[in-house]
Amino acid sequence: MYESWFDLKEKPFSLTPDPGFLFLSDSHQKALDHLLYGLESGEGFIVVTGDIGVGKTTVCRTLLSRLSDRFVTSLIVNPLLTEKELVRAILEDFGGQAPPGTKKDILDALNRFLLAEAEAGRRPVLIVDEAQNLPPTLLEQVRLLSNLETEKRKLLQIVLIGQNELKEKLSLPSLRQLNQRVTVRAGIRPLDRKETARYIGHRLGVAGGGGRDLLSDGGEKAIYRRSGGVPRLINMLCDRAFLSAYTRGSAKVEPKDVRRASESLADHGGGARRFLRWIPWVATPLVILGGLLAAHAGIF
Ligand SMILES: Nc1ncnc2c1ncn2[C@@H]1O[C@H](COP(=O)(O)OP(=O)(O)OP(=O)(O)O)[C@@H](O)[C@H]1O
Ligand SMILES: [Mg+2]
Repeated sequence: MYESWFDLKEKPFSLTPDPGFLFLSDSHQKALDHLLYGLESGEGFIVVTGDIGVGKTTVCRTLLSRLSDRFVTSLIVNPLLTEKELVRAILEDFGGQAPPGTKKDILDALNRFLLAEAEAGRRPVLIVDEAQNLPPTLLEQVRLLSNLETEKRKLLQIVLIGQNELKEKLSLPSLRQLNQRVTVRAGIRPLDRKETARYIGHRLGVAGGGGRDLLSDGGEKAIYRRSGGVPRLINMLCDRAFLSAYTRGSAKVEPKDVRRASESLADHGGGARRFLRWIPWVATPLVILGGLLAAHAGIF
């Protein structure tokens, strides 16, 4: 809506993980390096964690686009499956055929598929996004898959990507065995103040912003303060703040636009809480006034 006002060719703050907008902060870059290096060097188990909306799926997509042809991948994004469904989904996402039958039948087919890939010189990688949602039984199933190996090396490398609670899950006593297998761990942090400014500038640049400064210093600071440097929140706030600046006819986003953006994004609960806070201030004088009027009319 505001794109033409700011001379932009496309929406700069959309919520899709579009690789064209990729911005690698220090910790995004490190996580990607750990993943690429870990997979190249044949590490069996890699875990990447980070806060909600910090860019884990974005890094995962980038990884998929940067892996060489020697790798074949299976990406599982909805881990709310039974054990049998999980094994089937893994094999099918690799491009293999899962036979009907028991879990063991499908596991055998997966094993055969992985052996054939290894013989053809390819390296299968299983990537589970949103792995914090995997119940312990499925995590244990994933660990069992990591046992598939030839005499020389693992048949399957595994990457688990998830929110910080995945770390807590992995430290459960029942998952100690899995936790011990993890050889590479990387964390994705929210952006710091400078990275937030560069991130916003980068997205505006990709959207055709021509490097003009579209946010005042105060506006930029307010975005950082209210988003904590979490990219998804930065996008949501910026989108609304640009809309607010546009409706004011302003060439720059100012702190008041960010404040408005943040208010419009606040959940209804927040709005309701604010309303309830005002009730005593409004209701008390009304009750007093009502009492005075009633007394005057001789009701009491
Ligand atoms: N490094 C980045 N470069 C560009 N945009 C990013 C980056 N990281 C995150 N984003 C933006 O933030 C949005 C949220 O990122 P993403 O979906 O990758 O987060 P997530 O950590 O996987 O979130 P969740 O915890 O909900 O799974 C993306 O759609 C994208 O628009
Ligand atoms: Mg994600």
